Amino acid sequence: MSENGTPRTRLRSESWLAGQDVPGFLHRASLRATGFATPFGEGRPVVGICNSWSEAVNCNLHFRGLAAAVKRGVLAAGGVPIEFPTISLGENLMKPTAMMFRNLMAMDVEESIRANPFDAVVLISGCDKTIPAQLMGAVSADVPAILLTGGPSEPARHFGRDLSVGTDLWRYTDDLRAGRITMQDYHELEAAWIPTTGHCNEMGTASTMACLVEALGMTLPGSASIPAVYARRAARAEEIGERAVALALEDLRPSTILTPDAFHNAITTLIALGGSTNAVIHLLALARRVGYELQLDAFQAVAGQTPVLVDVRPAGEHLLVDLDRAGGVPALLHALAPLLRADAMTVSGKRLGELVALTPDGDGRVIRSLDTPLKPVGGLRVVRGTLSPDGAIIKASAASPELLTHTGPAIVFESIDDLAARIDDPDLAATPDSVLVLRNAGPIGGGMPEWGMLPIPQRFLRAGVHDMVRISDARMSGTASGTCVVHVAPEAAAGGPLAAVRDGDLVTLDVPDGRLDIEVAPEELARRLDQRPCAPARYSRGYGALYAAHVTQAHEGCDFDFLADSRAEPPPRLPDGLFSGWIGGW
Ligand code: FES
Repeated sequence: MSENGTPRTRLRSESWLAGQDVPGFLHRASLRATGFATPFGEGRPVVGICNSWSEAVNCNLHFRGLAAAVKRGVLAAGGVPIEFPTISLGENLMKPTAMMFRNLMAMDVEESIRANPFDAVVLISGCDKTIPAQLMGAVSADVPAILLTGGPSEPARHFGRDLSVGTDLWRYTDDLRAGRITMQDYHELEAAWIPTTGHCNEMGTASTMACLVEALGMTLPGSASIPAVYARRAARAEEIGERAVALALEDLRPSTILTPDAFHNAITTLIALGGSTNAVIHLLALARRVGYELQLDAFQAVAGQTPVLVDVRPAGEHLLVDLDRAGGVPALLHALAPLLRADAMTVSGKRLGELVALTPDGDGRVIRSLDTPLKPVGGLRVVRGTLSPDGAIIKASAASPELLTHTGPAIVFESIDDLAARIDDPDLAATPDSVLVLRNAGPIGGGMPEWGMLPIPQRFLRAGVHDMVRISDARMSGTASGTCVVHVAPEAAAGGPLAAVRDGDLVTLDVPDGRLDIEVAPEELARRLDQRPCAPARYSRGYGALYAAHVTQAHEGCDFDFLADSRAEPPPRLPDGLFSGWIGGW
């Protein structure tokens, strides 16, 4: 019974821990063997702490300390904390790309939750792909869940300014290639570049996803922007641990929170942040996990009505720490209130509209108002046409306005190796009007790495050319900029028309009209695709072969086809009395 005398909800963990039989004995004894002296299976929620700590992921290095703070909160609220590891995904070190392993981590998270006696989970993630992977896994397991993101790293200070981890790297790399800085300068930058743990400190993919976790309602308000090394982040971890115990007792699950309204709020926030194009893929995948067929057109529709309000690099000038000082995501949501769906539920137990009503205005500088936006409409655009029948994405706000309508002859690169070998070749038959095309870098062709910001040929950089139209089936970093059309679907390796482009074909990008076309007759394109030799399979075994066989295209979220719509499976709760008298086998 509960304190007020009403029958309490039976906890999921009690299927493991309540039985007075051999399995119950062993399950309780196994947990006691971790050092707990307290009784289990008597209404105390068991809270799993899913930790993506790894020394191979510098962004997540502080997570052991955060997990300890979460445990304090769980214990204080009367729960039992059980920390467990999963695979972690380091954006910079993992090859061919961390993106290829997002689905693997999502499966690891889902099955770790499903298989264990957790009544709720706290998910700790930071680096780009770890956040969507944990969200996807948790929503599929559909046990009450709350995210604790790791927070941004402190900025390095060099050349008299605070540096952003990604945006400034591209800038100084172009400076090096153009001869404006020396290799010694570049080495000095490397040594100073990442002074603390934490995720990239501008509005790259990790920061974007952390902010969207708040907009989706999957963490406590104000969590996203607190810097990784601030004491406030550990305090927030403790609060999240406490809240996880309540979530278990309330049985408030991700499937109740991640509704179409929550996705509308996340997309609106993504546009107002000037956020990463990668978030489009992650939201598409996450929505499909709850059976919501979110489409690219939803992003286009919201972008047309939503201004960019956040002045953070690469769309603006500031860093995440400035967003935090300006009031963080709650202040942004307050500014966006007329465009949001206020009824969306959040893990706080309050609806988004209630939270927004409690929040003061932003500072008007880092977080603008709807009346004084940074940019009057959002930057994400969907382009479709004979070169991208299922759509492609361009971050128009990071592109050169004069290139948003452009026709030029294609220069085609078959792979990243081909690109690396020829891009700076003085004999490359390119002009600044050329359209640089990279193919075989999509989900099947290459695991979809962030190669979409193709480098500008060195001789053009030295002549002061900073941007060209670039098209690929790859992704690009959330910190990147330039007139880059990415996520072309279907990709070349799946037989998309990108596979048929030849050097010299005229390609037309018309962002205002939402078009991406190749000026080649459809019959000729079909003939070229028919004659195209079959590419040899990139992987013959293991996870790579599984990935290539089952990954969906970019406009569907690049999830595995067999993982969509987890509503098909009942919540992982074991029936009472299932294992009376026997130990295993269920
Ligand atoms: Fe981890 Fe950028 S490298 S968030």
